[in-house]
Amino acid sequence: MRVLVVGGGGREHALCWALSASPLCDALYCAPGNPGIAAVATCLPVSAEDVDGVVAVAQKEKIDFVVVGPEAPLVAGLVDKLAAAGIKAFGPSALAARLEGSKAFMKDFFARHNVPTAAYGRFTDTAKAKAFIDAKGAPIVVKADGLAAGKGVILCQSIAEAHAAIDTIMTDKAFGAAGNEVVVEEFLDGEEASFFAIVDGETALPLASAQDHKAVGDGDTGPNTGGMGAYSPAPIVDDALQLRVMNEIILPTVRGMAAEGHPFKGVLFAGLMISKGVPKTLEFNVRFGDPECEVLMVRLKSDLLPALVAAVDGQLKNFDLRWHDDVALTVIMAANGYPGTPQKGTVIEGLDAAAKIEDVTVFHAGTKADASGAIVANGGRVLAVTATGKSVSEAQARAYKGVDAIRWPGGFCRRDIGWRAVAREKQR
Ligand code: AMP
Ligand code: GLY
Repeated sequence: MRVLVVGGGGREHALCWALSASPLCDALYCAPGNPGIAAVATCLPVSAEDVDGVVAVAQKEKIDFVVVGPEAPLVAGLVDKLAAAGIKAFGPSALAARLEGSKAFMKDFFARHNVPTAAYGRFTDTAKAKAFIDAKGAPIVVKADGLAAGKGVILCQSIAEAHAAIDTIMTDKAFGAAGNEVVVEEFLDGEEASFFAIVDGETALPLASAQDHKAVGDGDTGPNTGGMGAYSPAPIVDDALQLRVMNEIILPTVRGMAAEGHPFKGVLFAGLMISKGVPKTLEFNVRFGDPECEVLMVRLKSDLLPALVAAVDGQLKNFDLRWHDDVALTVIMAANGYPGTPQKGTVIEGLDAAAKIEDVTVFHAGTKADASGAIVANGGRVLAVTATGKSVSEAQARAYKGVDAIRWPGGFCRRDIGWRAVAREKQR
């Protein structure tokens, strides 16, 4: 098969790394890719958001199968357009991608299908939104309806903060048209975890759980980011909880989407809040997480490609995936300034030395090669230094050994990725 991966971050590097090992993969392309991806795939200079450009290049390169990494092209209908051009693609249709593309759609869907989630209201009118906030009290959560690169959620400790959040999103349009509507919801307490399944429209195959670290600073301090690190599995998601998540969240969603006439195919990524063993859904994403994908891929023992093809073909029913028992952990190295304005162009050295460390894999997230061929920073999250081990503590120690082999004064990372799980291991 001639395979094209769409995207150019750490998630797509991990996907390309896994797909390039498949005996079924004859040629691997990535649009736009990055210098790390270029080691395993041919990079094509087409932006992931350029839906028509991706379709055109897929036709030109006679691609048999496309794997879409990020949410924006999914919500914009890339999979539908590829299908119309006769090209198979892994990922949901635009209508199914509304589960991530519109929080208002998602919340109403949860209500229709009894999927456990926070109580909410949805509003296009600022006065009505504020009246709802006054009635409910704080703490309370205000969310822009549309895609906002993970930044459209504001946790408010007071009614005044919540009113200000409404103004920021709806009046100042801090997230553009994504803020034409808001969801205001109950604040949930508990421990967060992510759960992933691949879905073929009818059948859901559980992948694995993970926990990420959204805050930029050690001890979960500072502003939220796209994720500063992750590990898998998440110890809080034991077999009993996984069963509940499948039966109460994933399967009702799969059945509900099919019943409403837009069956879901692709990765269903549930963001969960778990309190006293009860999971509630914070959100759905319709793709692999980044950096969660990096830890899932290094744990996956089975060939990824036939699983993704089976999802598109509606053949997951008799499919099984095997996983390494090892834990995986990834540390994000970000450019100074992130999550504000990251400094671009700083030179990164020592990548080869890091990659030589046993059980360490360095995925490129936001890098580019400069005119002299040096690897330089080209984004906020720049590298995902990923390691496996028998325990979270072991994987963590290895990942930081990898980090310490990298010489990059222009970047930083958190030093405590995996702290919850490491603390749990120490208690034993
Ligand atoms: P989301 O993009 O909806 O997952 O929200 C981003 C982050 O905000 C989540 O990972 C949670 O940490 C937090 N969050 C979102 N909704 C709630 C809620 N209802 N209660 C508490 N925290 C929340
Ligand atoms: N790491 C969270 C996300 O990919 O949305």
